[in-house]
Amino acid sequence: MKIITVANNKGGVGKTMQCFQLASYLANKNYKVLAIDLDSQANLSSTLGVNVHRTLVPEWLIGDVPFEEVVVPAEGHYDFFKNLHVVPSSRHLANLSKLLILSESEVRKNAGRKERLLKQRLQKISDFYDFVVIDTPPMLGDEMIMALVASDQILIPTQAQDYSIDGLEELMDTFEIIKESENPNLQFSIIPSMVNKRRKIEKVRMEELSESFDVTPAIRNLVEMQESISLKKPIFLMGKSSKGKQDYVDLWESLGF
Ligand SMILES: Nc1ncnc2c1ncn2[C@@H]1O[C@H](COP(=O)(O)OP(=O)(O)OP(=O)(O)O)[C@@H](O)[C@H]1O
Ligand SMILES: [Mg+2]
Repeated sequence: MKIITVANNKGGVGKTMQCFQLASYLANKNYKVLAIDLDSQANLSSTLGVNVHRTLVPEWLIGDVPFEEVVVPAEGHYDFFKNLHVVPSSRHLANLSKLLILSESEVRKNAGRKERLLKQRLQKISDFYDFVVIDTPPMLGDEMIMALVASDQILIPTQAQDYSIDGLEELMDTFEIIKESENPNLQFSIIPSMVNKRRKIEKVRMEELSESFDVTPAIRNLVEMQESISLKKPIFLMGKSSKGKQDYVDLWESLGF
C-alpha cells in the first residue's frame, strides 16, 4: 500500500484538485484506492460524493472507533468509483487538536506520540488498499504532520508567485524535520500548479523555483479544471484535445503512476 499526501500550508494552490485527479486516475486503473480528507473544509469529500454531518476521524485516530465506522464508498457517475473509498471530513475535524490534548494519556499508550497516530491506523488496513491519497488543510498543524509521518510521498502543488514560494521554505523545513526524526524514506515532488506561462512574472518565478528544486511538469490554469471539479468528472475522461488531460498525462507519467 502506497501512501501519498498532498500538502501545502498555503491555501488555494490546488491540493484538493490533485487529490481528486490522482485518486480517480488510480481507481480507474483498477487499483483499490482510499481517499482520506483531513481538511475540515471537506472539499475532497463532497467532490467524491460524500457529505457527512459529523466526521469520526478524531475518534478513529485516538482509537475510540474502528476504521469501518469512518470509511464509506465514494459516489459518482462513473464505473471507477467502485474502486474508491473515502474517509470523509466535516467541520468537526477542527476539534482534532483539542481532542488530542484531552486524550493525551490514551494517545501516548497507543502510539507513543500523537504524530504517529495516522501511521498506526493505516498499518492495520494495508492489505485492503493499493493506494491511499490524503488531502490536508492549508496549515502546518496536527493533520499535516500526522499525514507526513504516515506517507511514502508528498506532492506539493505550488503556484509560481512570491508568497507561495516563501511559504514553501517553511514547509520544506517541516519536511526535513519529519524525515530526520520519524520518516527517513519520505519523498517529495513539487508540482507547479495553476500556471499561466503567458504572465512574464510567473515564468521568471517558475525558472527560479526549478533552480532550487526538482519540479514536475506543470498543470496550467484552465477553466476545464474548474469544470472537472464542479461536474465531478476527472480530467482523464475529457476528450483528446483537452489541455488539462495532456498536463496530467505528463504529470502522472513523470511521477511513475
Ligand atoms: N489547474 C487549475 N486551473 C484552474 N483552476 C484550478 C486549477 N486547480 C485548481 N483550481 C481551482 O482553484 C481553486 C482552489 O483549488 P483547490 O481547492 O484544489 O485548492 P486547495 O489548495 O485545496 O485549497 P485549500 O487550501 O482551501 O484547501 C478551486 O476553485 C479549483 O477548482
Ligand atoms: Mg483543499
